[in-house]
Amino acid sequence: MSGFGNEFATEALPGTLPIGRNSPQRVAHGLYAEQISGTAFTAPRGENRRSWLYRIRPAAMHGPFELYEGPAKASFHNDFNAGPVTPDQLRWSPLPVPPSDTPRDFVDGLFTMAGNGGPAAQHGIGVHLYAANRDMDGRWFYDADGELLIVPQLGRLHIATEMGVIEVEPQEIAVIPRGVRFAVSLPDGEARGYVCENFGALLRLPDLGPIGSNGLANPRDFLTPQAAYEDREGRFELIAKFQCHLWRAQISHSPLDVVGWHGNYAPYKYDLRRFNTIGSISFDHPDPSIFLVLHSASDTPGTSNLDFVIFPPRWLVAQDTFRPPWFHRNIASEFMGLVHGAYDAKAEGFAPGGCSLHNSMTGHGPDAATFEKASNADLSKPDVIRDTMAFMFESRAVIRPTAQALDAGHRQRDYQACWAGLRKHFKAPA
Ligand SMILES: [Fe+2]
Repeated sequence: MSGFGNEFATEALPGTLPIGRNSPQRVAHGLYAEQISGTAFTAPRGENRRSWLYRIRPAAMHGPFELYEGPAKASFHNDFNAGPVTPDQLRWSPLPVPPSDTPRDFVDGLFTMAGNGGPAAQHGIGVHLYAANRDMDGRWFYDADGELLIVPQLGRLHIATEMGVIEVEPQEIAVIPRGVRFAVSLPDGEARGYVCENFGALLRLPDLGPIGSNGLANPRDFLTPQAAYEDREGRFELIAKFQCHLWRAQISHSPLDVVGWHGNYAPYKYDLRRFNTIGSISFDHPDPSIFLVLHSASDTPGTSNLDFVIFPPRWLVAQDTFRPPWFHRNIASEFMGLVHGAYDAKAEGFAPGGCSLHNSMTGHGPDAATFEKASNADLSKPDVIRDTMAFMFESRAVIRPTAQALDAGHRQRDYQACWAGLRKHFKAPA
């Protein structure tokens, strides 16, 4: 179903949805009615998100939860280094996909890199990587702490949710709302990517200002699944993330038993290749806010809790201009990843599946090789950047790397050397 944040109505069996009310005395087909709200009941109508689910059993039915560490020894958490945070530029190579004798499904394959804020304060983000080689079989997961923005980099994901099935491949994204239960299977046998856990306001499309009523990510390109349900009983497992920890409970049926639903709180996907990229046709590289796909507002207008920004294929035509991104220091903090191809500000070292972190006021920009090339480029011809898809999770607060990220084997400890070759060109006039 097409559209962003629409009021959808979908049923896997005809006649499931009640007409003219949400909670009839008896729901069709012997189903239970249940509401899930994603915003406060009294949120303004334009921001109010909730859905009504008509399901075989209510979500309340499961055993007691116990803390869950998993085989990866709690590598998925929100323990964002409370101590001193290095102002260094940081970069990592791709997280290796685990070997086949080390089974990791999507949840057990999550590895927390960085973050800020937390679910208790209801603002901030968690930044995670995943590397998995097993389907979630007979286990389901929900995150009560935040909505999950999933950015696959390697391998497709088949995400079966309470509200239907989403299939995503690299260069697409999926968003799973806070609380919605799902299981991930891997059609390609293994998968790797990035997850941003948003503790703050729900992701939404940005205002377009003078761009007008079209452009960037267009609402009709966001897709929400139609209802699909499982009627399955057995000894299964429900994993919850609640207040920074993982919990496990027994469940005797599939929680993906929603036969019909209506509302505007639902998972969705988006193909980043459909992004209408806008840039300069005169001079100067615009601020990267022009590449904003989705954002989570903070309580300060214009200042996001989370900006999800992409750097897709595009033409560079600006004249008398250094065409790649300039050197900069920003108030915001930037976690970058690369889904596909190469990123135009780095000649090497930033590989697909890798990531970098440049926190507030930390200087960064093109590496020495890129600077030399772009400073001497022939600007009489346009450049086209093909085969690329980089992205950024940008946040108003410092993104604190976790201890396990700083100690990780895939960290590039020599990252700063990429700027060491920048030569001094200055000559004072005689
Ligand atoms: Fe930057």
